[in-house]
Amino acid sequence: MALLDIQNVCHAFGGLVALDSVTFSVFPDQIKAVIGPNGAGKTTLFNVVSGILRSDTGDVLLEGSPITGLQPYEIGQRGISRTFQNLSLFAHMSVLENVMVGCHCRTRAGIISSALRLPRHRRDERQAREKSLEYLAAVGLADRRDWPVAELPFGQRRLVELARALATEAKLLLLDEPASGLNTKETDDLGQIICQIRDRGIAILLVEHDMSLVMDISDSIFVLNFGKPVAEGPPTEIRSDPEVISIYLGGDFDSVTD
Ligand SMILES: Nc1ncnc2c1ncn2[C@@H]1O[C@H](COP(=O)(O)OP(=O)(O)OP(=O)(O)O)[C@@H](O)[C@H]1O
Ligand SMILES: [Mg+2]
Repeated sequence: MALLDIQNVCHAFGGLVALDSVTFSVFPDQIKAVIGPNGAGKTTLFNVVSGILRSDTGDVLLEGSPITGLQPYEIGQRGISRTFQNLSLFAHMSVLENVMVGCHCRTRAGIISSALRLPRHRRDERQAREKSLEYLAAVGLADRRDWPVAELPFGQRRLVELARALATEAKLLLLDEPASGLNTKETDDLGQIICQIRDRGIAILLVEHDMSLVMDISDSIFVLNFGKPVAEGPPTEIRSDPEVISIYLGGDFDSVTD
């Protein structure tokens, strides 16, 4: 059974149709990439799935239940977490504190027990700390835990955002251009980390312009152009699809199809 089903989703901004009958599924343990030129509708799709935007028509289902129209925090609680095209970290908090913010979506202590620092709150706090350290280790940043995020190099800040998304214990991570601004070595490392996350049983929906990363790590690729679905399949099929090649002609794509 699919983890996420996107069914005939349409979204327009005024007269501009950003998503036009988009349908595809993401399966558990799968890295699914969504590619397409600038303005194709990729971020809009993420905003619909995560509840920031409401689709005009169509449905989004998580494990068979509709999540269309739920608030972003409700969608987060059901197991979808995301990173942003532009980083959204708390720059003056430490690396560890940033990751613990992700854990706090999961802790059960309410405001009153937190304010009074009741035992339950202290236990949740300790567990959040331990879990966050584990997620920091998963992205290779355990030794940076006490650094203020603002002092980290850009590539490492992206990894903190990824660790925070992991800390929500999501079943599905939406990653919007995680490799943007990274050098080749950082991109290779990121690819390995994303595969390790998939191997822990967390599905990934990936929007990314770096075609060699997409081709290397994706199990399946969905191609959008001007909001319309163009093709869907494994990397070997997509890289030889004539329509996909023509969309990318002269762009990033021919360098990896040569
Ligand atoms: N809030 C908005 N109001 C009006 N138009 C918007 C809004 N957000 C996006 N658009 C338009 O919708 C279309 C899809 O935008 P979107 O940001 O989803 O593309 P994208 O595929 O993520 O592009 P990129 O690769 O540049 O990030 C574009 O034409 C964009 O200008
Ligand atoms: Mg975008």
